[in-house]
Parts: sequence; structure tokens; C-alpha cells
Amino acid sequence: MTAILFGGDYNPEQWPEDVWHEDVRLMRDAGVNTATVGVFSWSSIEPTEGRFTFDWLDRAITLLHENGIGIILATPTASPPPWFSIAHPEALPTTAEGVRLIHGSRDTYNPAAPAYRAAAARITEELAARYGAHPALRGWHLHNEYGTVSFGAEVDARFRDWLERKYGSLGALNRAWHTTFWSQGYASWEQVVAPQATQYLRNPGQLLDFKRFSAALLLECYQDQIDIVRRLSPDAPVTTNFMLPSWLHYDPWAFASASDLVAVDHYVDARGVEGAAHAAFGADLARSFGGGRPWLLMEQAMNLTMRGGRLLAKEPGAGMRTSLQHVARGADGILFFQWRTAPAGAEAFHSTMVPHVGPDSRVFREVRELGQLLGALDGVASPLGSSTPAPVVTTRVAIAWSADAWWAADSPGLPAPDLDFLPAVRRVHRALWMLGRTADFVRLDDDLDRYDLVLVPSHCIASDAEAAALDGFVRGGGHAIVWYFSGTFDDELHVELGGYTGRFAETLGIRVEELHPLEDGESVALDTGTNGARWAETVRLRGAEATVRYADGPTCGEPAITVHRHGDGTARYVSTCLPDDALAALLEASLAEAGIEPDAPEAGDGLEVVRRSGADGTYVVAINHGATARTVTLHGVDAFDGSRVAGPIELAARAFRVLRAQ
Ligand code: GAL
Repeated sequence: MTAILFGGDYNPEQWPEDVWHEDVRLMRDAGVNTATVGVFSWSSIEPTEGRFTFDWLDRAITLLHENGIGIILATPTASPPPWFSIAHPEALPTTAEGVRLIHGSRDTYNPAAPAYRAAAARITEELAARYGAHPALRGWHLHNEYGTVSFGAEVDARFRDWLERKYGSLGALNRAWHTTFWSQGYASWEQVVAPQATQYLRNPGQLLDFKRFSAALLLECYQDQIDIVRRLSPDAPVTTNFMLPSWLHYDPWAFASASDLVAVDHYVDARGVEGAAHAAFGADLARSFGGGRPWLLMEQAMNLTMRGGRLLAKEPGAGMRTSLQHVARGADGILFFQWRTAPAGAEAFHSTMVPHVGPDSRVFREVRELGQLLGALDGVASPLGSSTPAPVVTTRVAIAWSADAWWAADSPGLPAPDLDFLPAVRRVHRALWMLGRTADFVRLDDDLDRYDLVLVPSHCIASDAEAAALDGFVRGGGHAIVWYFSGTFDDELHVELGGYTGRFAETLGIRVEELHPLEDGESVALDTGTNGARWAETVRLRGAEATVRYADGPTCGEPAITVHRHGDGTARYVSTCLPDDALAALLEASLAEAGIEPDAPEAGDGLEVVRRSGADGTYVVAINHGATARTVTLHGVDAFDGSRVAGPIELAARAFRVLRAQ
């Protein structure tokens, strides 16, 4: 049996050694089997350039190993020490305003700077050579939350190389960025720079290419370390912790393909049912990025969570329920930031597994309970990074997800400020979750045939391949819903002329003639008796039928929602922002049309039921996140007490059951 990994970031360098002994005793007591060591430890491992002090790390790893605790070894390259910035000022990051940053926080490096890359490679090589075959080593955690973007001379030079490779000629670049607008025509490559602070709106094409370039640069940094570690430590799987998603500085699909398995950090941003919806969103993204295979929750919080000013205080038991949600949705590891709360430093009030008050605390008692819970689910996990046949969760619904769509939706000069990608995608996922449905995320140019229903919210950009794939999916019998402004740009961020949403126009059987961004608080009546908000359009039918029409406003009487029977499938178009109940009704109707049955008919409104295949069989996880008891029909054997369940049971408020299906 393989245990589910349980533990978290462990930073023994922040504590005197006598505390380490208490740490391992408490870890054993709580069932912790994994410690992530070395994240941000650079100045403790290499206190001056080229002088390595591994003695403390040797002792810490030995102590963990002797106590049966495995390690995930991190490379500390997200936080170069002060000596680095003094010796290599040119390798510090520069902001878009031209300000050069200096050490004093973390992530203070320039990914394009040769000195940074060399220093990162050297410490990776030292660590991999020293610990690459250590018996306690379970895997590699390279860097921490890749995400540093820099400007400056090194970046400009690399950006130009990348552009020359992409476009081949300056003429092609000028055309793609449409530089005739506002006198931006480039006459030589030397004139081309990264899009920094300037007088007014920046060039959207230049900005999008810079995001793509910066993402490729971070992938290159990751690949530097992967190559070293795979050479010196070939048996240990390699990953990095994706920051889920509030910002996006790299393409998670590309990072996932480079990794042996996906690992994510996910911090829920609300309490109660909304927090649970957010956890499900993060977990479904993680599983999807990894192609449906098991993944690791590398960081989460038991209680107080950083989110700008006021920390989010989680309710008792939330850590347990969130962890179970992640296991249900494919996690083979439940890890935290971090093991013990430090008495000082910038995150001294972020919660951990052992709080400031010590183990005699509600939080540590819950950590221990969680350890017992996960310990009883040994049969779920596969060996780390193994190519378990995907997917561990099966669903026939997918939501389109693309880094380009996110970045393009952040472009300057769009017709409304609320065309953002993340809120639109999250809203559709939440609506499905509230209906008790689990969804995957998918790239439109991936294999869509695994799905019966594909949802495309806020996907303003679409390549030829993506547009063709969606069309083929619908013609072949699939069902799709596309939301307003999607498919408006080609992949050079040029508006497809002849009608907005033009990339998908043929699939949708419509022509969008005019855009009507609505004012804040303004709404438009629909003939179903409900209202749309934020956005309306003049939609002309070109083969589609109107299922809902506008009942007032600038487009009164015109189609608001359409359906196109196209080949063997259907493509619906939604030209306004629907309220929650109308969105839910639309999704329910499409799920029914696509013949997608729920896993548990009672699920929804905060009652979550997910079937997950584990290494030794299928598990059904049912969690009631709500404040009142719910009835749910389940079949299987309770994973904790062995009792048999066959039929409807009552699940108390905030209670859960985990059954092994028979
Ligand atoms: C993560 C990061 C951790 C810690 C945590 C809590 O994003 O990787 O090191 O900072 O957030 O804020």
C-alpha cells in the first residue's frame, strides 16, 4: 500500500535543534509521513557564494529519516540570498517602471539573467548530487511558485531573440502588433523592447507576446533544474508547486508536461459553502493540468490564510473537509504551508500545523485527526508520479481553460472591464458544483471527444486549431455553450472581421453585429422574465435559432441566447451575463440534452459527492458543506469503520462519509 502523503513545508533552519526533536515526535504523533525541506533555505545552505553548509541539512534529513518521515526536497532558488544581489546587481528584477528591486523579501531575481541561472543551477546540482539517492527522498520540489517577471536590458535582449524566432522578420512583427497605429513601426530589431511603463495604453499585441515570452522564460528556468535533477537523481519524481490561480505568469499546461506529476498550492478564499466551491475549483484544475492523473496538494492552510490585509479565519473542521475534497478530486498528497508557525518574519500569523500556542490546540488536534483519516485511506494513493491510468475522476463535462485566453482578456482597450477570464471560468465551475457536478478543464485544441458537454466562458482569443477543434467536436455530436465575446480575436489578437465571436461564428450559426457593454448596475430584461447584466449584443441568426430574446434595452426583440444544431451536435451562445438561477437552468438543460447523469441525484447546493478511483478500487466521498442535514443515497463500505451502506443515509451538517465502492 502507498500512503497518501501528509505533512508540509518544514524549515528546521528557523529553529534550534532541540525543537527538531519535538517536531519529529509531534509529526509521528500526527501521522505525518512527509516533510518538504529546503524551500527558501538558500542563505542557510550557501551563506557566501560557493561555500556550502550542508551539515545542518544532513542532520535534519537524517532525523526525519530515522523517524520514518520521507522528504520532498526543494531547491531554494525562489529566494537568492543578500550576497547574490550584491555580487550580481544586473541579475536583480526590474519593474515595468524601471525600478531595480533588491533583496529583503523573496522572489528577487531576474529569470533572464545569466548570473541568476548559473547560481540556481549550481545549488541545484549540489543538492541533487548530495541527496539525489537518499533513501528518505520521495521527490523534488523545484523552486517555489514560479512567477517572477522582470524587465531590463537582459530581458529586452531575450525578448527580441524570442520574437525573431517567432516572426522571422520585422515586417511580420510590425503586422502582428499592428504598429501603424500610434506610430509604433519598428525599423530595426534593436528598437524593440519589452512593454514597460509608457504614456497611455500599451500595445496589446506586444503585451500578449511579452506574457507568452515571460512564461517561456520561466519554463526554461524550470527545465534547467529538471535536467540537472533527472541526471543526478533519476529515480525521484520531479514537480514544482503551481500557485493556483490568482495570477498567471506561466502556462500550467506546459509546466505540467515538463513535470512527473502536478503539484499545486491552493488557499481557499472564503468560509463555508463558497470556500468549498473554491477548493473544488482548485482541485479540478490541478487534476486537469495533470491529464487526469493523481496530483499533490503541496500547500494549503489549516486556519488563518494570507489574502492581503485581513487574514481569512477558517471554521473548525474546514481543514479536514477541504483536504477530503482534494483527495476525492485526485490528490495523493495533502501538505501544508508550513509545519510550525515561526515567531517572527513576514508570515508569522499565517496558520500552520503547529500554531504559536503549541500542540495543545484545536488546530493541532485537527491535524492529528486528519492524519488518522488519511492513514485509513492508504488504498487510494499510487506511487508518486506513476502513470496510473487516467483519469482518477471521470466526468463528461469540461470547461475550456487557456493561459492565452486569460492573458488576452487582460489586454488594454477592451470594451468592458469585466470580460476577465478567471471570474467567468470560476463562475461556470461554481454553478456546476452547486448542481452537484464535477468538471474537468481542457484546452480547446486537446482531445475533446472525452466529453459530451464543453463550456467556453470568456475565451476571447482562439487559434485556428482551437476554433477547428470546437467545430469538429460539435459536428461530431458534442454539445457546447459559448459565452459572449469568446472567439473575437485570432491568436495574434486581431479582431476577426465580419462579426464578433467570429472564430466560432460558423459553429454557433450567428453573426454578432454590435457590442453593448452595459453600465454598472444596468440590466436588460429577457423574455424569460429574468435579466441580463454587464453586457448585451446585437446577434443575427445565421442558421441558429433564438431560445431567449431581449425584452428591452438597445437590442429589444433580438436574440439573447441561441442554439445551433450543427452536424450531430448543438452549439449554444449566451450574449449576456445571466443571473445565478438562469445560469444554473441553462447548464441543467444542457447537461440533460447531453445525457449526462449526476453521480448522486441529491448532490448540489453544498452537498458534494465525488467518485474517485484509487490504486485499490473506487471510493465515494460525500461531504455536506452546508448548515443543515442532507439525505444522500450511497453504496459501499465505510473506509473507516467498515460498516456497510446501501441506500439513503442522513449526513449531518458539515459531516462526511468515505465509502469504498463494491
Ligand atoms: C504560498 C507560498 C508559501 C507561503 C504561503 C502562505 O504562496 O509558497 O511560501 O508564503 O503562500 O502565504
